[in-house]
Amino acid sequence: MSARAICLLVMPLAAVVVAGLATDPPAAGQEPYREPLRPRVHFTPPQNFMNDPNGLVFYKGEYHLFYQHNPFGREWGHMSWGHAVSTDMLHWKHLPIALGEEDGVMIFSGSVVVDWHNTSGLCAGEDGDRSCLVAVYTGHGHGKQTQNLAYSNDRGRTWTKYANNPVIDLNLENFRDPKAFWDELSRRWVLVTVLAEQHKVRLFGSPDLKRWETLSDFGPAGATGGVWECPDLFPLPVDGNGGDVDINPGAVAGGSGGQYFVGRFDGTRFVNDNPPDQTLWVDYGKDFYATISFSDVPKSDGRRIWMAWISNWLYANDEPTETWRGAQSLPRVLQLRRLPEGIRLVQAPVAEIDGLRTGPEMAITGRATLPPSADIRFEVGRGAGQEAGLRLSNAAGEEITIGVRASGPELFVDRRRSRATAAHEAYAGRHAGPVRWRDERVTVRLLFDRSVVEVFANDGETVITDRVYPSAPLDRIEWLGGKAPEPARASMWELRSVWETR
Ligand code: FRU
Repeated sequence: MSARAICLLVMPLAAVVVAGLATDPPAAGQEPYREPLRPRVHFTPPQNFMNDPNGLVFYKGEYHLFYQHNPFGREWGHMSWGHAVSTDMLHWKHLPIALGEEDGVMIFSGSVVVDWHNTSGLCAGEDGDRSCLVAVYTGHGHGKQTQNLAYSNDRGRTWTKYANNPVIDLNLENFRDPKAFWDELSRRWVLVTVLAEQHKVRLFGSPDLKRWETLSDFGPAGATGGVWECPDLFPLPVDGNGGDVDINPGAVAGGSGGQYFVGRFDGTRFVNDNPPDQTLWVDYGKDFYATISFSDVPKSDGRRIWMAWISNWLYANDEPTETWRGAQSLPRVLQLRRLPEGIRLVQAPVAEIDGLRTGPEMAITGRATLPPSADIRFEVGRGAGQEAGLRLSNAAGEEITIGVRASGPELFVDRRRSRATAAHEAYAGRHAGPVRWRDERVTVRLLFDRSVVEVFANDGETVITDRVYPSAPLDRIEWLGGKAPEPARASMWELRSVWETR
């Protein structure tokens, strides 16, 4: 039997969310998904503003992605749940808004579960079985945040808000982001929420998703420099099997960021395995926030997969993108790995991405042409010099560098020279996270997608996710300093756009 540890994730947010409304229509004559900053393999909304992924769930052969969305403008406001479905988490089909703002109540972040046995009584049994989809979301309005239900009996195509909402009302202004799951141990639904300003995760339990009792609180712990948002709680195997979870010492790039805790959950209470003052960061970039993991991925698949919003509240409303704002990360598979410093979260892009490769593997020796989206691998050997890696640039002299710095050693992404006029003062920066030499080298996988870089070092031990907003496409790639360090290996594949076949 494999050993299991519980990963609990809470997100501090250092910036205040500012409501605003813009009503720019999409630019006339502009072909969707061909705009210069529009990612080709990452999910972006057809138009207007998007932030957190919500309600990730697998049901009857489809992955569902809901997302925080302003249907009316390119800045945060009028929050509703946008919706898309996919059979591979990459090729998404846009569906109409699932849940809209109503009576002065916005639809904030939350989750969706499959109520397999109609514990809620909300399933109509229309599809030949007893199951249906139930969303648990935060209603934001009239001076407070409450937890609410909505349900769908037609595979998520239409949604009905539960007549007796809210299901939890603590009369609090900052109580949000419910993540629900069925707990086999206590045989009940568990709801993970945040008391955002108190830096607490509050857990509730219920037999039917409607009547909730308080189970326990976790926190404050780790980073508390901002409000806590978007918690998640799930079991993860350590190294695939065996062993126990030990105690060991442990938003890093500024603004919004995710932290995680590793510990045990007994069906009522989460107990941290590490000291409460230890902070473990999910991602060392500036653009990876509000993660949520998929619910109900079939046991035969067994993966724990999450996605995050690739932006930062410091500049989310100022991104210089075309008719839309905000992107979702590629889905990532999570695991816990036993490292010299303790048990740590590792993240890897889902294997489905390999199917987007087109054309031959291309070696990067001198300067090469960089396709608009690419899956790039490189290795940096220990003797490679102070800084080694890759430079992505354009004819306008804008560049982003990604590599390994020997002192530390650390993985870095430097976007200080990536746009002549920075999108926002908080945007320009160099982001770095600790890495280790494994067999005298660091291996790096870089997923580049027009305005997104996701960088995974040593099979996901250190991750940096950043947006980049060049004024002209980054279409050149070369070794930093012009010459490949010894020993060096780098190659890339072009990735096909997921929107081409729509
Ligand atoms: C996180 C967040 C959530 C909230 C939502 C509102 O980015 O602030 O806490 O539910 O966005 O759009």
